[in-house]
Amino acid sequence: MKNQQTDAMSYLPAVYAVGESYQIVMPFAVEAIVKVAVGDRVFYDDTCGVLRSSDRIHRVEVPMSLLDAAREYSVIYRVIIDRKAYYPEMEEEVCVTFDFRPLPQDREIRIYHLSDTHNMVEEPVAASGYLGDAMDLLILNGDIPNHAGKHEHLETVFKLASAVAKGNIPVICTRGNHDDRGRCAEDFLNYIPHQNGKTYYTTRMGRYWFLILDCGEDKTDDHEEYGNTICFHPFRRAETEFLKDVIHNAEKEYLAEGVEHRLVVCHIPFTFSKLVEPFDIEKELYAEWARMMREEIHPELMLCGHRHLAEVWEVGGKNDVYGQACPVIVGSRPIRHKDTKEKEFIGCAITLGDGSAKVVFNHHSGEIRGEQTIPLCAE
Ligand SMILES: [Fe+2]
Repeated sequence: MKNQQTDAMSYLPAVYAVGESYQIVMPFAVEAIVKVAVGDRVFYDDTCGVLRSSDRIHRVEVPMSLLDAAREYSVIYRVIIDRKAYYPEMEEEVCVTFDFRPLPQDREIRIYHLSDTHNMVEEPVAASGYLGDAMDLLILNGDIPNHAGKHEHLETVFKLASAVAKGNIPVICTRGNHDDRGRCAEDFLNYIPHQNGKTYYTTRMGRYWFLILDCGEDKTDDHEEYGNTICFHPFRRAETEFLKDVIHNAEKEYLAEGVEHRLVVCHIPFTFSKLVEPFDIEKELYAEWARMMREEIHPELMLCGHRHLAEVWEVGGKNDVYGQACPVIVGSRPIRHKDTKEKEFIGCAITLGDGSAKVVFNHHSGEIRGEQTIPLCAE
């Protein structure tokens, strides 16, 4: 079978780029043991040698270079009938092979950016049709679920990755602040990419280097809305140490040979602040992050959501509070009409070339709502 979702699979796999690997996350409808074959190598979803089956969300990590070369992977699974301690019973092995297109290195790349879908599926999927099969990379940039009160909200990540990327192209996925709210918030890492349990990390796909950041919530930890359920101040401080390590470690991965484009992906545009309570948090810390971007990392673009806007914020513009290193693209605008319950969505297509990035904001109906070409300065 090729590129097919079976009855046992709830959605098509999400192929997340993390570090030097792809984390292939596969939600199943039934209990199963799952492995992934790339060429003649097999990778398992296991806990220290025991194949996992009780959790229906499976994750297998494969080396990026291996899958990029193979350009296909096979999801191999057996549905559990009875996992008894001796002679467990399982159905016959099923193998589904998926085509995979790594990020092209010989031409411009076409990114579709969705954030702030807040449980919407139909409209964001329709918006992403602006690129359709020409898409090279899908970015899901936070607040994809409306909140983490129910696991079915978290599944919105799978619904969008499945319908848009179809298991055939890489996906970058960040955590947004609404994803941190509710009884299932602590389970969200099971749905999204992370590096050793951290939602901030880097990844490199050939010429393209990405810094993925997570601001957590947008108000202080003691805000009554959160009811003592969060501790993002120490989380952000640890993230600052991570950023210092990215900058000061000997490898300087963002300056490595062959890296030609550097992008930051973060749900909250931390270079902006309304500077009014309760949103005026972490002034010093965000100013320091902005300085590190400006003086050290020199990204070409920062891709954000959170503000429910479809705008490009220029360096030095009215939204540049802490000193942007580069233009900030705030790339999704969900619209809900309370009276008619009608929903609309404006997403963002970014065509990234060597000298410029073309940004198109399109409505889910297909109508273009904004278009801008951003010159990129080579460092
Ligand atoms: Fe948000």
